[in-house]
Amino acid sequence: MKEKIETIHSEFESDCSTITDKSTLESVRIKYFSRNGLFAKLFEDFKALPKEEKPKYGKVLNQEKQIAQAKFNEIKEKIESKSEKQNVDIDLSLPGRKYKIGNLHVLTQTLNEIKNIFKGLGFSVHTGPEIESDENNFEMLNFPPDHPARDMQDTYFLSNSFLLRTHTSPVQVRLMRNGKPPFRAIMPGRVYRNEAISAKSYCLFHQVEGLVIDTDVTFAELKATLVYFAKQLFGEDVKYRFRSSFFPFTEPSAEVDIWWQPKNKPGKWLEILGCGMVDPNVLNNLGVDSEKYIGYAFGMGIERMAMLKYGIDDIRLFYDNDNRFLSQFK
Ligand code: DAH
Repeated sequence: MKEKIETIHSEFESDCSTITDKSTLESVRIKYFSRNGLFAKLFEDFKALPKEEKPKYGKVLNQEKQIAQAKFNEIKEKIESKSEKQNVDIDLSLPGRKYKIGNLHVLTQTLNEIKNIFKGLGFSVHTGPEIESDENNFEMLNFPPDHPARDMQDTYFLSNSFLLRTHTSPVQVRLMRNGKPPFRAIMPGRVYRNEAISAKSYCLFHQVEGLVIDTDVTFAELKATLVYFAKQLFGEDVKYRFRSSFFPFTEPSAEVDIWWQPKNKPGKWLEILGCGMVDPNVLNNLGVDSEKYIGYAFGMGIERMAMLKYGIDDIRLFYDNDNRFLSQFK
């Protein structure tokens, strides 16, 4: 018994010197003071001693355990106060971690700008589906079957009567068919054209359509609206011109160009949108009384606007998802 006590005593001393943190503290506690720990075992052995030997060891054993327990508690306190102190020892002067924050796609930003300009003029915003009927995309807009104007837009046909819309003008059709004039709306969305892919054209792009129908709408109002728009988007001193043009769904029709002046290169006129007074045929097709109502419409490409605004020279950049490009537009 005496030997056992001495062995545990010296083993405990040396184990104590290995305690450096909470986990070594815990393993020492388990080894000596748990229910199956060495002290518990020692007391088991003590119980098994012959009666006459018990008084000799009882006191020693109790003392030994108390001393060990006291020493252990002392170490425990030190360890715990040390870790508490460590928690407080945060270096508040360290710089914080920087998280990279993404940004809206440049096309979304450009569309938001366009929307805000027109919302300020009292326009509402409508959308329509990208899969359209031939009827909505062409027929109702005064493109008769086999009309050569259909060739202006290379179409992805899905079947004889359905296609991927080639422009946002069919949303005008939906608006007029399903609602009652007056209308004052813009209609943004994605459109598709089966064109050879190059820096200038892609198989899909985005447009914003505009439609105003009321009893007293004039071409002068159309002009004023679009000039205001161009000045808001490109700056007060943007140089612009209206040039007469042709669209099946407007009469008369025009295109708006703005003067583009790159640094150290010759400037040129660039088309930014098509527009015109809604052809009475279109109104009649859709149950709008063309004797009572008159309207104007316009359509523009969002990519085109963003390219001009930011000096981007390749439309494919919008679709490459290259962060080096996209993150420039914060
Ligand atoms: N839909 C035409 C296109 O994609 C653009 C356009 C021109 C829309 C004149 C209009 C408009 O509403 O009046 O080329």
